[in-house]
Amino acid sequence: MRAISKSVEETNKLAGEILNTIKKSDKAIIFGLRGDLGSGKTTFVKAIAEHLGLKQTLTSPTFVIEKIYKLENKNFNHLIHIDAYRLEKGEELKTLGWEEISSDPNNLIFIEWPENVSDILPENTKYINFEFIDDKIREISYE
Ligand SMILES: Nc1ncnc2c1ncn2[C@@H]1O[C@H](COP(=O)(O)OP(=O)(O)OP(=O)(O)O)[C@@H](O)[C@H]1O
Ligand SMILES: [Mg+2]
Repeated sequence: MRAISKSVEETNKLAGEILNTIKKSDKAIIFGLRGDLGSGKTTFVKAIAEHLGLKQTLTSPTFVIEKIYKLENKNFNHLIHIDAYRLEKGEELKTLGWEEISSDPNNLIFIEWPENVSDILPENTKYINFEFIDDKIREISYE
């Protein structure tokens, strides 16, 4: 899938469409969000959180690295948002309980800057690419 988003609202809509395609498996579902600073990765996860009915506002985990949100009455029990911008290797995620969270089929995980922790991301990780075209326009592609 390759789409041009002309606004945050359009990105929100795309997030909903991608969310609808997600099927559970025997491990956590993991999405790597690739793209430059300001390309819309956090905005996308915020939209996912809204579609999942989260009441609290999702903020960027840049400083805390990982945020875990509890979901009520959804396919998944937790939405987990990781920002690996400040990390250098996957091992640093292990101290944040990576082995446990990534093996739990009830977790839905989104990771910004997946390149930084590529050494521990499993083969079944899915990727969404964000490209900054101009002020309001982003190209979003999903393999
Ligand atoms: N079409 C669009 N889709 C998504 N965001 C958009 C769009 N147009 C403008 N924006 C703005 O672009 C910014 C994207 O910032 P965001 O924090 O989501 O980027 P990011 O990829 O998470 O960056 P970082 O790598 O620094 O975490 C937001 O301020 C958002 O309002
Ligand atoms: Mg971000």
